[in-house]
Amino acid sequence: MRLAVLVSGRGSNLEAVLNAIADGRLPGVEPVLVVSNRPGVRALDVAARHGVPSLVLRRADFADADARDAAIGSALARSGADLALLAGYDQLLRPGFFAIFGGRTINIHPSLLPRHGGAGMMGLAVHDAVLAAGDGETGVTVHDVTPDLDAGPALQQVRVSILPGEDAEGLAARLLPIEHDLLVSVLAGLAAEAAEEPASVSMAAALPPVTGARSTQERR
Ligand code: GRF
Repeated sequence: MRLAVLVSGRGSNLEAVLNAIADGRLPGVEPVLVVSNRPGVRALDVAARHGVPSLVLRRADFADADARDAAIGSALARSGADLALLAGYDQLLRPGFFAIFGGRTINIHPSLLPRHGGAGMMGLAVHDAVLAAGDGETGVTVHDVTPDLDAGPALQQVRVSILPGEDAEGLAARLLPIEHDLLVSVLAGLAAEAAEEPASVSMAAALPPVTGARSTQERR
C-alpha cells in the first residue's frame, strides 16, 4: 500500500506513522510522498528525516483553491499512492482533488465525529467545544474523506472519558498519543486488507506535471 500524507504543521501524526514503518510495525506500507500546504513546517523536516519526498503546494501559487487541490490530486496520482492520509491537514479538499486522485482518502480528527467537526474545528477549538458542550466523553476518529468537511463515514473511533477539571490543553495532550496509536492501527488494518486484494492499476503515468508548485526548500 503506497501512502501519501497531507500535512500543514507539527507533523506528530506523520512522525508516528513513519516511525512505525521504520520499526517494521506497518509491513506493506510504503510512504511515497508528503504534501504540505505550508512551507517551513516541522512536518516537512519529519519527512526529510525519514527520506520521504515532499512537496509544498501553496494556495497562493494557484489561481484558486480548486486548482491547487487538483495539483495535489495530480501529485498523489503521479506518486502512485493508493491511500492519502490527512494528518493535521488544515484545509478542505475541493472537488478537483477527488476528480483526479482515484485512491482512498482518510483523515484523523480529535473528537467523536460527527460531534465537534466541520468549519473552525481545528486545534484547541475542538476541545474547547467539547468542554463547552459539557460532554462526558470525547475521543479520536479516523474517517473516510469526502468533499464535505469531517463528514465521511468513520473507520475507527477511540472514546475517552473527560476527567474532572480537565482543560482543552490537557485534553489535547492526552488525546495525541491515542491519535498516534489509532492511526498506526488503522493503517495496519488497511494494509492487511490491501494485501488480500489484487494490485490496483497506478494512475501515475498518464498525468501531466504539476504546475505552479514550489520545492520543499521554499520559505515564506
Ligand atoms: C491532530 O490533533 C489531528 O487530529 C488534527 O490536527 C492535529 C495535527 O497534529 N487533524 P500533528 O500535526 O499531526 O502533530
